[in-house]
Amino acid sequence: MCGIIGYCGHRPAVPLIVEGLRRLEYRGYDSAGVAFVQGRDIEIIKAEGKLGQLDKKLEGRDIMNATSGMGHTRWATHGLPVERNAHPHLDSTGRLALVHNGIFENYQEVKDDLLTKGYTFHSETDTEVLVNLISEGLKQTGDVLKGLSWALRQAEGSYAIVLVDRENPGVLHAARKSSPLVLGIGQGENFLASDVPAFLPYTRDVVFLDDGDLVRLDASTWQVLRYDDLTPLEKKVHHITWDVQAAQKGGYKHFMIKEIFEQPKVITDCLAGRIDTAAGTARLPEIEDLPVPKRLRIVACGTSFHAGLWGMYLLEKWARIPVQVEIASEFRYRDLILDSDDVVLAISQSGETADTLAGIKVAKDLGASILGLCNVVGSSVARESDHVIYTQAGPEMSVASTKAMCSQLVALTLLALVWGRKKGVLSPEAQASAVRELADLPALLDDALPAMRDEAKRLCRLYSEAKSFLYLGRGPCFPLALEGALKLKEISYIHAEGYASGEMKHGPIALIDPKFPTFALALADELFPKVKSNLQEVQARGGPIIALTQPGVDLTVDHRWVLPTASGPMSTFLALPALQLFAYEMADYLGKDVDQPRNLAKSVTVE
Ligand code: G6P
Repeated sequence: MCGIIGYCGHRPAVPLIVEGLRRLEYRGYDSAGVAFVQGRDIEIIKAEGKLGQLDKKLEGRDIMNATSGMGHTRWATHGLPVERNAHPHLDSTGRLALVHNGIFENYQEVKDDLLTKGYTFHSETDTEVLVNLISEGLKQTGDVLKGLSWALRQAEGSYAIVLVDRENPGVLHAARKSSPLVLGIGQGENFLASDVPAFLPYTRDVVFLDDGDLVRLDASTWQVLRYDDLTPLEKKVHHITWDVQAAQKGGYKHFMIKEIFEQPKVITDCLAGRIDTAAGTARLPEIEDLPVPKRLRIVACGTSFHAGLWGMYLLEKWARIPVQVEIASEFRYRDLILDSDDVVLAISQSGETADTLAGIKVAKDLGASILGLCNVVGSSVARESDHVIYTQAGPEMSVASTKAMCSQLVALTLLALVWGRKKGVLSPEAQASAVRELADLPALLDDALPAMRDEAKRLCRLYSEAKSFLYLGRGPCFPLALEGALKLKEISYIHAEGYASGEMKHGPIALIDPKFPTFALALADELFPKVKSNLQEVQARGGPIIALTQPGVDLTVDHRWVLPTASGPMSTFLALPALQLFAYEMADYLGKDVDQPRNLAKSVTVE
């Protein structure tokens, strides 16, 4: 997830672009850059780090003449967050510059072909490949618009792009597919941006571009065309009434709810380039050449620990690898028995959690190899690991983690599929059906989320007086019970405890009474009969029950919350947002500070 902005008008473009980037910084912040035409050349100024670094580089530069240009604030997905990988990127001829938000999936294949044609590359990014592919299109068609369309017909993956042409500085081209891009229409000036806040001080009239749209704009005109055959398209202009803050949250009240609703897109992004539905296979290029671990230790904290615990069930089932999951703050101080046969999988959204980093160090000293599973590219966990898989979830702003966990679960599913295939213990049919179900998940979840939110709202109002909740689950639903309880206590400050259903009779059952609600995960899986009898024990003591369940499940409780049907582990991707939504709606109803709960930090860099 990155932020991009383009401008054609009558004002000095560069300060306006930098100001716009500042309002997009919530979309990514590891490096930033601008491009504009100065004399006969495209001038590109970029800097590693937050926008302040770019400001410093712009000081004293001759930037006030250009009245068009573009900028980018980056959240790395390919290549480290360093200056050479920052956008904009130039093509080999120096005529075109591109900013890009998204993932160009077949970039390696295209790059190999362009190298044979004499193109040269200076970064590790997929974006530099794309601008050179457009350059090749320009060469073949003799026209920028046609060349862009030619290139996009070959580009697989997601993109929102803006293109500057040295030969025509007053014109910008742009396109989108599965990454956001909006067009802002002003008086004698037009804008392009990943999100409305970037240009909100200048215009409130916007066109929300759709997948497959290609745009040509100058200061006074704009046109939207179909990317493949350049047919002109009619577009509706919307008038926005949000303020900047609301706009950054996409019109949602909090980042947390925005991020919960982003999960279908997060699943798509995490799967990008990693599944082939036609072949029925999953691939993780980062680890394809490594041997399958004999034993795996998963080390993590908080929500990432719950993701790891869930992964254990799948890795054991599909890849037949013995897995132990450990809380990093415990792991680091144990008298560990590890050697070079052990692989430690360190899971961390931020990649900066002190205990997880310390766990990595201890494991490394004992000779184990480290595989990192991180969201933040180039973070400490990523750098300390021998190999790293990125979850590609984009920046997570809310302190309570939601979409990052979803992406970790997707990545763990892919790991189980890849290792299961490599070990030959997972049949091709089982792989193919899992890959198909993964590919179908984003649409299924997207459809289900609005009704889930309504149900969460209704139920939380019935239980807002509760002082404590018990969350119960078995098998892969046990880590979900832990996560549901964690989410509720983190943001609503209601005490909640997650327990393995079968363990309830060894203690928590003493607490059950009509004022002590149980939130149960009673999904349609092979353990359901066992869960059902645990719930009967709760009912026998007068405890009220909310049960997350699925169609066809025979269960009578106070509140049946029926999720759509999904097979096996895929049900998790529906249950998780339900738990998140319940906690969110409860906290919001109780008037809590949802995005920044008291006493908590997004990234815990101290022990
Ligand atoms: C903090 C955050 C949690 C997060 C945990 C681990 O406690 O508030 O949301 O799950 O750290 O963070 P990591 O970045 O390592 O996943």
